[in-house]
Amino acid sequence: MEPVIAPSLLSADFSDFSSAVDSIKRAHAEWVHFDVMDGSFVPNITFGHKLVSDLRSKSDLIFDVHLMVEKPEQIVPRFIEAGADNITFHAEASVHIHHLLSMIHYSGKKAGISIVPTTSVLAIEEALPFMDIVLVMTVNPGFSGQDMIPECLEKVKKLVKMREERGLSFQISVDGGVHTATAHRFRDAGADILITGSAFFDAEDKPALVKKLKALV
Ligand code: DX5
Ligand code: ZN
Repeated sequence: MEPVIAPSLLSADFSDFSSAVDSIKRAHAEWVHFDVMDGSFVPNITFGHKLVSDLRSKSDLIFDVHLMVEKPEQIVPRFIEAGADNITFHAEASVHIHHLLSMIHYSGKKAGISIVPTTSVLAIEEALPFMDIVLVMTVNPGFSGQDMIPECLEKVKKLVKMREERGLSFQISVDGGVHTATAHRFRDAGADILITGSAFFDAEDKPALVKKLKALV
């Protein structure tokens, strides 16, 4: 099946997010990926729930929020209110994962868990039945434009197997180092959603890039 493409606003011009979201729509990508960073869980700081809320009225695309923050339980309610469709937080940042997934589900949103490159899929094994999305970081979180860490693709393959064996239906997204030369490796491993930052916003012809990532050309 062809993957969903989720361009990340981390690589957009921060003075014009509105145009960035328009360019995602025009390129026929389906999701807008919001990389929320707190300067603590990762060394960078980006934006908060207000950006989601301000863009919400301007776009009908799926808003996919990736929280790279400590204590995600403190800010999840704000992103729910702001109009996020999917909310993903890091397994490494939360103890009460089931509780937080339930809170997100209770609000009618999709809930996801992300793992950094050295976190094993076994760390989230017991949580798999309770989530809609597993976001496998394929670079160290915090910055765009890094090279994919190929070992992380093994985790994608393991998740595909675990999903099949248990009859589960979560989607697998991959984040970091997705571009035209690497997309086939993510697709072959079994990723359902390709998040792309620098490749998308650096591309002159964004619709063509989306087609290439989906392997339609
Ligand atoms: C990194 C972010 C990614 C980032 C990917 O912490 O989670 O979403 O934007 O950027 P590229 O596609 O440039 O590796
Ligand atoms: Zn991300």
